[in-house]
Amino acid sequence: MKRAYVETYGCQMNKLDSELAEQALSEAGFERADDPSQADLVVLNTCSVREHAEHRVVSRLGRLKPGSPLRKPGSVLALVGCMGQREGERLFQVAPHLDIVTGTKEFVRLPQLYDQARAGRTRLAALDLSDDFEYARDPRHRSDRHKAFVSIMRGCDLHCTYCIVPTTRGAEESRPLALVVDEVRRLVDDGVVEVTLLGQTVNSWGKQLPGAPDLADLLAALDELPGLLRTRFITSHPNFFRDRFWERVRDLRTFCPFIHVPAQSGSDRVLKRMARLYTTDQYREMVAEARAAIPDVALASDWIVGFPGETDDDHAQSRAFLREVGFVQSFVFKYSPRPETPSERRFDDDVPDAAKDARCNDLLAVQDELALAQSAREVGRTLEVLVDGPSKTNEARLSGRTRRNKIVIFEGPPHLAGRLVPITIDRASTQTLYGRLADAPAEDAAPAPPAAPRRLPLIPG
Ligand code: SAH
Ligand code: SF4
Ligand code: F3S
Repeated sequence: MKRAYVETYGCQMNKLDSELAEQALSEAGFERADDPSQADLVVLNTCSVREHAEHRVVSRLGRLKPGSPLRKPGSVLALVGCMGQREGERLFQVAPHLDIVTGTKEFVRLPQLYDQARAGRTRLAALDLSDDFEYARDPRHRSDRHKAFVSIMRGCDLHCTYCIVPTTRGAEESRPLALVVDEVRRLVDDGVVEVTLLGQTVNSWGKQLPGAPDLADLLAALDELPGLLRTRFITSHPNFFRDRFWERVRDLRTFCPFIHVPAQSGSDRVLKRMARLYTTDQYREMVAEARAAIPDVALASDWIVGFPGETDDDHAQSRAFLREVGFVQSFVFKYSPRPETPSERRFDDDVPDAAKDARCNDLLAVQDELALAQSAREVGRTLEVLVDGPSKTNEARLSGRTRRNKIVIFEGPPHLAGRLVPITIDRASTQTLYGRLADAPAEDAAPAPPAAPRRLPLIPG
């Protein structure tokens, strides 16, 4: 029996890709290993988005040398994903004990590459990025019983100056509507109740497809699947909520009013140098349109602090913008110059690391303050919670999420996992709400699913 161990770095798209790699390996007869020391094939699925992410992989590679207790004698070591795509065969110099390098598409060929490596060929690189990427997803290969990621597009057509992703993942390709709906249907038949649609600019989905359907069309089509309770999508770009998007999605049963739509900076000068393609006023307009349709919509952001040339005043504008928009969650990153990106070529990384740290902590402190105030407002309300299962910090309690993505902890029987329950909130901390099962329905409960599926809208697949 052959066994494979897959370790994942990076974003949700990489987590999904690891599930697809595991599917390909399982179809080729591999069993799953939970530890590299038991594996005939060790796979690192890597991320290049910041230098730190790459450093972690390089140090992990160092510990996976043949002869180390982490390696089974004769086993094969593969590096796949964004770092593989970016660095390619140069990685064989960094880590001469690597046997296989593939990128963000050809990782599905791991079983064949493994056979070639075992047959005595080492240093195999498979890095083609040009082909369309399509696969028949087997719903059984997923890491969560009730939730699944579904990629609806791959790649990115924008050129934010700091970003390596267009290099590592290539041009944008949307998957046809019918394929996505079919994949979600098969996941739902296997017990999934919440899907998160993935794309780098997920709300530009569809533009290359016949009839140019958009994300609202796709969300409406998925809303027709009776067993599906919730649909989320990440990550959105502020420029692509077009054609009355908010009005078209707000009444969908499965739509969750939590939108991750990174602002990156609150300074127009910095946004311009980032080539983000919007100003703060345009972002404000997007927020106003969203809130006109969905007053309680929750918005989350990413921020880059210490972008080249960012002054204290630029930073103060980010901090003010965070407050003004009232984001519910922020992911803050210190600028990291990525090789061959426009910002790396054009600008010096001139903000000292100590200033980046201070700005990072500053934005996080403002966000915590906002989040605590927002959470406190939920106390006393009864909210609809989708139960994930036992809480990670206390197995005796259950953990779930509200439609607006807040974590809720409460007591209840484990069989509630995967179900929607009304929870009355008693107490709030910055990240978490605490409550109890309610008898009355939730104030924000979604309508019940249709008994019989309605007719699917006629959108060319
Ligand atoms: N496609 C998504 C996410 C891209 S990567 C989007 O456009 O929002 C996730 C986040 O990492 C980005 O939103 C950005 O905040 C951050 N990031 C990307 N490149 C970076 C870099 N070179 N240095 C620091 N942070 C970076
Ligand atoms: Fe990178 Fe910008 Fe594309 Fe996001 S939209 S993946 S930040 S280039
Ligand atoms: Fe994701 Fe990192 Fe690649 S964030 S797209 S795995 S560079």
